[in-house]
Amino acid sequence: MDRTFVMVKPDGVQRGIVGEIVSRLELKGLKLVAARFEKLPEARVTEQYKEHLSKPFFPSLKTYIMGGPCFLMVWEGRNVVALVRKVIGATNPQEAAPGTIRGDFGIDIGRNVIHASDSPESAAREIGIHFKPAEVFAYTRIDESVLYEY
Ligand code: RTP
Ligand code: MG
Repeated sequence: MDRTFVMVKPDGVQRGIVGEIVSRLELKGLKLVAARFEKLPEARVTEQYKEHLSKPFFPSLKTYIMGGPCFLMVWEGRNVVALVRKVIGATNPQEAAPGTIRGDFGIDIGRNVIHASDSPESAAREIGIHFKPAEVFAYTRIDESVLYEY
């Protein structure tokens, strides 16, 4: 089954909406297979966002992400990478549709509450940055045929 890396950023943690975010993804039908609460070291923030190293917003992005603990997760489900990007909404909360996480909870692009991998390749890379294989759990939750058509 497909996997993606999702992270509630420090603003989301400090605003007390970790539970709301986890709940939205659970209610969608996705399966939580790894989670950790952590203040990210600089090296892993840089690795996570290395595509943005040369961007003008990179220094403020790094300060933002390192500003407090984050809630790191791996979620599993069919086509989960694209699905979670839809659930979280556009990067800029001003443009994110109502009903999406950023559309419902964010205002500024520099405080957009949540991260999710943007492609299956990014997901594999980002899961590898933040989780050891033994920290990601394969388990049976329910009869999956209530969720998926086989
Ligand atoms: P993320 O990686 O955090 O899930 O966000 P994303 O894919 O939707 O957007 P991306 O282009 O990867 O940008 C990464 C994060 O950098 C901050 N950002 N600030 N001030 C700006 O113009 C600007 N642009 C991006 C946001 O926190 C964005 O989520
Ligand atoms: Mg991104």
